[in-house]
Amino acid sequence: MTTIRTRVAIVGAGPAGLLLSHQLAEAGIESIVIDRRSRAEIESTIRAGILEQGTVELLDTLGGFSRARTTGARHDGIELRFAGEGHRIDFAQLVGRAVWLYPQHEVLKDLVAARLAGGQDLRFGVTAVRVDDAASDRPRVIATGADGAPLEIEAEVVVGADGSRSVVREAVSGHRTGYFREYPFAWFGILCEAPPSAEELIYSNSPDGFALISQRSATVQRMYFQCDPDVDPDAFSEAQMWDALQARVPGTTLQEGPIFQRDVLRFRSFVAQDLRKGRIALIGDAAHTVPPTGAKGMNLAAADVVVLSRALRALLLEGDERLLDTFAETALGRIWKAQHFSWWMTSMLHVTADASEFDRRRQLGELRSVVESEAGSRYLAEAYTGWPLE
Ligand code: PHB
Repeated sequence: MTTIRTRVAIVGAGPAGLLLSHQLAEAGIESIVIDRRSRAEIESTIRAGILEQGTVELLDTLGGFSRARTTGARHDGIELRFAGEGHRIDFAQLVGRAVWLYPQHEVLKDLVAARLAGGQDLRFGVTAVRVDDAASDRPRVIATGADGAPLEIEAEVVVGADGSRSVVREAVSGHRTGYFREYPFAWFGILCEAPPSAEELIYSNSPDGFALISQRSATVQRMYFQCDPDVDPDAFSEAQMWDALQARVPGTTLQEGPIFQRDVLRFRSFVAQDLRKGRIALIGDAAHTVPPTGAKGMNLAAADVVVLSRALRALLLEGDERLLDTFAETALGRIWKAQHFSWWMTSMLHVTADASEFDRRRQLGELRSVVESEAGSRYLAEAYTGWPLE
């Protein structure tokens, strides 16, 4: 059994864990990051792609390692499309802020490169099994190393940044899991080789269901259409996927091209019962999950990091526990706002099989209330581009 001693043990090398280790290192606090996955898997798994302005500013602290502003694309608005017409939500004009389209796996490549260049202890293929001595001030992560040998990490603080199937969560929330909501639909996502069909993202509500037209580059596009959560993605032909997409963005003709990747994203809203117990804290998807419609997942993880890293600096540099004591309450304020926004965007844009004619007409009234009112549009712009960070 190998034992490692460090100040902060971070389980999970996703955006939350890597960004936290970076911020701690900036403050001179040593940490270790472990992840069950390989570096190649982390850097290639396709996830969502929108960064709030505040998230891009946090990544700026990586110096030359962040390519968000150079490889990513700034978007000053989105289009809401319904009843056959598009309506632009002009972020620049409404709130003077923007978002960046920069896929999560690219963010991860930047974070991994920066952490390794900084001499960070970052270990792939290491699986956390559980947290022991959770109630003490020396909690331990019990893990299995990449070689299969047992590994133990003793730290002053353990952070669970290990995603929606978090192992660390067990030590914080126990069997009282949390607050859930399931949705009766999912997104069918595709990557295709084609020129962009639009310069900005189109969030489209149609009688056939929702579609999102997103982009990746001049030659690769990302699009989604609402589907049944149990569909088999392989049962669709390319023609069927294009028919489904085209039908859901009436008024726009999509540029088609070979589809080289497809996946089904299930929808779920979740907030863990507790985000912290003693010296153990949860951040990112370990603490909460949002449906992808509001593009909040990675941004909420970054916001958790800001609150936790400040609390850990106070604790580990000054011995002041007060910010750690209020960490959960502070983080939950933003988490529930983002939960509401993600649920709201989802319910306003998707079509459910049991919707009555009343529901359908009310939904169009809701969409009109947003696009025809400056106050309505501004709420969307403010939430989408991101509330101020702590
Ligand atoms: C994406 O481009 O993958 C994307 C963009 C916006 C969302 C979700 C996904 O709300």
